Amino acid sequence: MTLPADRFARLRAGLEARDAAARLRRVEAYVPEPGTPYVLHEGRRLLSFCSNDYLGLATDPEVVAAVARSAVSHGVGAGASRLVVGSFDLHATLEAELADFTRRESALLFVSGFQANTSVIPALVDQGGLVLYDELAHASIRRGCWLSRAETRPFRHNDVGHLDAQLQDWAERSANLAEAAPTLVVTESLFSMDGDRAPLDRICQVAERHGALLLVDDAHAVGVYGSQGEGLAAGHARVDALLGTFGKAFGTSGAFVAGSEVLREHLVNFCAGAIYSTAPSPAVVGATAAALTAIRSGRLDQEGFLSFVSSAHARLRAAGFDTAPSDSHIVPIRLGEDRDALACESYLRSRGILAVAIRAPTVPEGTARLRVSLSRLHTPEHLDQLVEALVEYRGREAA
Ligand SMILES: Cc1ncc(COP(=O)(O)O)c(C=O)c1O
Repeated sequence: MTLPADRFARLRAGLEARDAAARLRRVEAYVPEPGTPYVLHEGRRLLSFCSNDYLGLATDPEVVAAVARSAVSHGVGAGASRLVVGSFDLHATLEAELADFTRRESALLFVSGFQANTSVIPALVDQGGLVLYDELAHASIRRGCWLSRAETRPFRHNDVGHLDAQLQDWAERSANLAEAAPTLVVTESLFSMDGDRAPLDRICQVAERHGALLLVDDAHAVGVYGSQGEGLAAGHARVDALLGTFGKAFGTSGAFVAGSEVLREHLVNFCAGAIYSTAPSPAVVGATAAALTAIRSGRLDQEGFLSFVSSAHARLRAAGFDTAPSDSHIVPIRLGEDRDALACESYLRSRGILAVAIRAPTVPEGTARLRVSLSRLHTPEHLDQLVEALVEYRGREAA
């Protein structure tokens, strides 16, 4: 056997192909300016429309004080997995509060949403079963489905009829089995790249009719929507596993899955991500608890934020930008080809505005866009700056 001359040749070729397609990704280093939507980048101050810190809690003084307090009292790291000696009173208290918040019997913490999706889905359905996911679901959901070894099929985006038909087909195919094969349906409540919502009422009905488990990833809605910020899924009792993340509106990091007691006990026993991983940092858990208190307190005025969001859509539409299908704080400005999205990003950057181009494979081919995310820290003047720069960019392109 001859050894390859350069064992990195395949990796290099992949990177070159990405670069040639204008899809090479790079990690930058920004410095956030606390309490504002600005960041410093290579000595320039940029107005950012990219962060998922929708409520500005990442630099909120109460949340920051809580991280320090919890680090002093419990340490920065948990030192072990939950099942060894890394499960502290802080974890248990936050889980009880999250269960109450989401109107579920229990909750279980995870280190990240990615870890939760990639380990909870395989814990709920495996070989011999079927998992159906919305075709625009987040990469972590898709990977969780593939890892499950179940038959994995996407359903057309928000197409409940297509979901129903696939479950029906599965029921017919497995009619002769001695034991019903497990089925799981997975969707996001508010889609991360389009900002539109899943028809949860109808998805719940279909899941109920077919006896399927239902997991809803509420990552982008929790904290923002609901009378106490409980998100879009909490009010749907048929959602068996409600997944929320803390890296977005909570301003910290980590995730939780809320549901019945039996679900939690199952995950504690069979979910690899909950078992074989160091428990979430107690310092971060303390900060997350403070963020939850803030979210439920009303002091963040989510209602006011959502009316700002509506006015932002109206303002963008009036300037000729189609923000459909979103009506949320995630606003896609579709530009089509990758190069157009990159050109727009670069023009905005030259005007001191940061709105990163999102390209395939994160979004489908030909739907490259700027993903504008609005935060409670943005003011109408910030929005004016964005709209003016977008209008200028469009004028230059047309010229
Ligand atoms: C819908 C959705 N689920 C899960 C995740 C992953 O969460 P985390 O950033 O905590 O890993 C993301 C992150 O972007 C997301 O958008």
